[in-house]
Amino acid sequence: MSKIKDNNLINDGISAIQWAKDNMPILKRIRKKFQKEKPFVGINIGVSMHLDSKTAVFLKTLQAGGADISASSCNPLSTDDGVAAALSENMEIFAWSNETDEEYYNCLESVIRTVPKITLDDGGDLLYRMHFKFPALLKNFIGGCEETSTGSIRLKAMKEKNELKVPVIDLNNAYSKYLFDNRYGSGQSVIEGIVSATNILIAGKTIVIVGYGRVGRGLATRFRGMGARVIVVETTGLLNNKGKSGYHKGLEALYDGNWVSSMEDASNEGDIFITATGSKDVISKHHIKDMKDNAILANAGHFDHEIDVVSLKNMSKSQEQVSPNLVRYKLKNGKSILLLSEGRLVNLSRPTAHGHPIEIMDGSFSLHALCVEYLVKSNSNILSKNSFKIPDVYSVPNNIDEMVARYALEENGIILKSSTFEQKEYLKKADLGT
Ligand SMILES: NC(=O)c1ccc[n+]([C@@H]2O[C@H](COP(=O)([O-])OP(=O)(O)OC[C@H]3O[C@@H](n4cnc5c(N)ncnc54)[C@H](O)[C@@H]3O)[C@@H](O)[C@H]2O)c1
Repeated sequence: MSKIKDNNLINDGISAIQWAKDNMPILKRIRKKFQKEKPFVGINIGVSMHLDSKTAVFLKTLQAGGADISASSCNPLSTDDGVAAALSENMEIFAWSNETDEEYYNCLESVIRTVPKITLDDGGDLLYRMHFKFPALLKNFIGGCEETSTGSIRLKAMKEKNELKVPVIDLNNAYSKYLFDNRYGSGQSVIEGIVSATNILIAGKTIVIVGYGRVGRGLATRFRGMGARVIVVETTGLLNNKGKSGYHKGLEALYDGNWVSSMEDASNEGDIFITATGSKDVISKHHIKDMKDNAILANAGHFDHEIDVVSLKNMSKSQEQVSPNLVRYKLKNGKSILLLSEGRLVNLSRPTAHGHPIEIMDGSFSLHALCVEYLVKSNSNILSKNSFKIPDVYSVPNNIDEMVARYALEENGIILKSSTFEQKEYLKKADLGT
C-alpha cells in the first residue's frame, strides 16, 4: 500500500501531470506503440527517481504498456507531493518531500519488497540496495536502467569488483541523453533553482563552476550568456570515460570563453560557487574560509557531499533560514556564507526548483522507455544478436539513441535527408580527393 504525504493534493498533481503530458510529444508516440503492443504485461518495475510531473508521464507510459509500477524517490527533497498523490491512485508510491535519511531508505526498501523484475534508477540506490541487502530477490531479475553519471560510476565499480549480478543499461552515455539532459537540461534548471531561491541578478557576478563535464559545460554556457564572468575549476589525475583528462577539460573551458583555475585560486573570487563533479569535498573548509562575505554555495552533482557541509556547520557560530532552501551560516571569522538546498541538488529541491524543463525530460524518458522495452525483448530472446542478458553495464543501442534524436527533431518540424549512395561510397574510400 502506498505511503505519501497528503491525498488532498491529488488535483494539483493531476493538473501538473497533464501540463507535462501536453508538452511531451515523443513519449506520446511511444505510449501509443506500447498501448498497442503491451510489451510489459506481468512485469513489475521498481523505480527510484525524482517523483515529479515529468517522471509521472514516463511511468504512465510504461503502465500503458502493461507494467505494474512501484516507485520511491531518489532524493529526500525532490518529491512533488501532489504528483505522488495522483500516481498513488493506480501505482504503489512510497515518497514524500523532505524525507529523513531513514525514511528515504525505508521507502526504497518498500519498493524492493514488491520484488521488481526491472529497476529504473537515478543514482543507483535501488539496484545497489537490492544487490547488497536483498540478493535473493535478484533471481529471475530481467535488468536495470541507470539515468545519471553518479549511478553509472557506481555500476562500473560493482562490475569491476565482480559484484554486478544483472544486466544494466547505462543511459548516461547515450549521446542524446548527454545533449538533452546533462548539458541543456542542467544548464537551464540549475540556474532557475539558484535564481528562484535567491532572486539575485546573474549579470556582473563571478560564477565559479567546479567540474567542466557535461553538466558544468552547459552551466558555463548559460551563465556567460546572462552576462556573468565564469571561472571553471578542473582537476588532474582523473580520466573521464572518453579518455579526456582535466588538462583537456581545462583547455576546452578556456577556449569556450571561461577563465580556468584551481579551487584554491578561485575561492576568494566567486560570488556564487556551483559544484558539478560527482566527487566529494571539492569545496572544503580550506576553500570556505577564503571565500568573500556572503558568497553563495550550490551543488548540481548527484550527492550532497560535493560541498563539505559538515565543516561549514562546524565553522559557524549561528545559522539563519533566509528563505526556503537558502540558509545563511555566520562563520566564526565574521563572514557569512549562504548555502542552497542543504548542499543537495539545487535544481531539484522543492519548493524553489522544478527540475529539468519538460521537453528535456521528454527526450531522456523516451530513451529510457525504449531501453526498458529492449531489456524485456533481450530477456525473452526476441533479439537474436546484441542481446543484453549477461551481467554487465551496457550502452544504449545506437538505433534507440538515434531514433530519439530523430523524433525530437521531427517534433520541432525538422526532417533531415539522407546522404546519396554516391556520397556514402565516396566517404568509404581511403583516397579521398584523388
Ligand atoms: N543537476 C542535474 O540535473 C544533473 C544532471 C545530470 C548529472 N548530474 C550529476 O552531476 C555530476 C556531474 O555530471 P557530468 O555528467 O557533468 O559528469 P562528467 O563526468 O561529464 O564531468 C565531471 C567533471 O568533473 C571534473 N572533476 C572531478 N573531480 C573534480 C574536482 N575535485 N575538482 C574539479 N573538477 C573535478 C572531472 O574532471 C570532469 O570533467 C554527477 O554527479 C551527475 O550525476 C546532475
